[in-house]
Amino acid sequence: MKSREKFGSRLGFILVSAGCAVGLGNVWKFPYMTGRYGGAAFIVIYLIFLILMGWPIMVCEFSVGRGSQKSCATSFKVLEPKGTKWHHYGWFGMAGNYLLMMFYTMVAGWMMYYCFRCAKGDFSSSSVDAQVIVNRFNEMLSSPGILTFWMILTVLLAFGVCSFGVQKGVERITKIMMTALLALIVVLAVHSVRLPGAIEGVKFYLIPDFQKMKEAGIGNVIFGAMSQAFFTLSLGIGAMAIFGSYLDKNRSLAGEAASIGILDTFVALMAGMIIIPACFSFGIEPDAGPSLIFITLPQIFNQMTGGRIWGTLFFLFLSFAALSTVIAVFENIISFAIDLFGISRSRAVLINIVLVSLLSMPAVLGFNVLSGIQPLGAGTGIMDLEDFLVSNNLLPLGSLVYLMFCTQKRGWGWENFIKEANAGNGKKFPLFVRGYMTYGIPALIVVIYLKGYWDMFAPQAAAANNPLLLAGWMCVAIAFLALIGWFAFGGKRKDS
Ligand code: PHE
Repeated sequence: MKSREKFGSRLGFILVSAGCAVGLGNVWKFPYMTGRYGGAAFIVIYLIFLILMGWPIMVCEFSVGRGSQKSCATSFKVLEPKGTKWHHYGWFGMAGNYLLMMFYTMVAGWMMYYCFRCAKGDFSSSSVDAQVIVNRFNEMLSSPGILTFWMILTVLLAFGVCSFGVQKGVERITKIMMTALLALIVVLAVHSVRLPGAIEGVKFYLIPDFQKMKEAGIGNVIFGAMSQAFFTLSLGIGAMAIFGSYLDKNRSLAGEAASIGILDTFVALMAGMIIIPACFSFGIEPDAGPSLIFITLPQIFNQMTGGRIWGTLFFLFLSFAALSTVIAVFENIISFAIDLFGISRSRAVLINIVLVSLLSMPAVLGFNVLSGIQPLGAGTGIMDLEDFLVSNNLLPLGSLVYLMFCTQKRGWGWENFIKEANAGNGKKFPLFVRGYMTYGIPALIVVIYLKGYWDMFAPQAAAANNPLLLAGWMCVAIAFLALIGWFAFGGKRKDS
């Protein structure tokens, strides 16, 4: 059998994994969540989750990947004790990667479209005012043609890169994009904090406002911070694990995971540092939510001297962040087909270009033709449902699976996990966290998960005066948990 492809260098591994982590979560979700949930107060909670939950789980994922030499499609099958049920999670992990791409490709397309329009000068003329900018955003959303075109362009570009293989495609291109991204971010942030009046924004960003956090609801903020920590580090669906499978045993994993987490956090914080001070400088509230970068920011670029160039560079930066994630997840998707069916890389690419393009259509049409479908309540669309399923369910619950797999005797087990994580030179994983990882994190995830469902649907049920709505959603949450329990504890372990 052909041996598994490997990264060309350590830097390649770190930048590709960081490229997977750094994405819309950092440059789009993080700034608007920070704007909504009280600036620095939210950031503090978010950082705690990153360190106390994100980092150990990332080490689990890399270890499972490196130990099995497989993608999440088959990694559990390779490592689990005979007779156990963990391998069923592989299907959910795969579904998670597809589900994420079903809306991510479209939003990545928005970034490129805005980059293109900024470069054309569409947001830098005196005839453009706030209303024109809002209309333009709505025009984009209501046009299936524009959305489909840019979505397919994203799919073709990213699969095109993957078709050249791990070293010659993914590693080479991602290295270039990530280097450019890090350079752009510094230039943009320096420019932003030097705008007149920007300093107020820097304060909002650095000084916690617990009052604002209370207004948003502490439960929402904590659930938001936890979900965001999993989302930004790409944890729970094996998206990171695969890069462990392309890694040799020269370096231990704790230090590598820390470097990747630090890079990811740096980019998120800097993205906020670009956006929030600029909002304050131009007297615009940073709490607009998801439309922050498509409506609020173009208004700012429109007023800024040199706004055409700054706007173009900004959306170029966002496009790089999004594309590096799409490439990384497509690498997963290709690898599923290779691991499961043994087909060639080029065939896997061709099949998935068609598959992912088709699967991305519901999200596209959800903004126009199918806008009547509002699965999570008034004002939500198909994209919100997809995002909810991945971000609020598959990622935290999948992280729970990886965690239990690495700590439970019925799984791969603590000894095997530690041996794999610590193989090679570099920082060793701390052994004293064993109890915390076995009981502490799982308990936290379950409690926060259930609380998150409650906080999300209780107000809706109250508004609709329909307690059954809440009961129904809580049953869904419990059913998902029960399924995870079955993966972990179902079946009879046969020791052979
Ligand atoms: N981390 C990516 C981002 O911040 C999103 C992602 C989540 C990618 C899960 C893969 C898996 O945009």
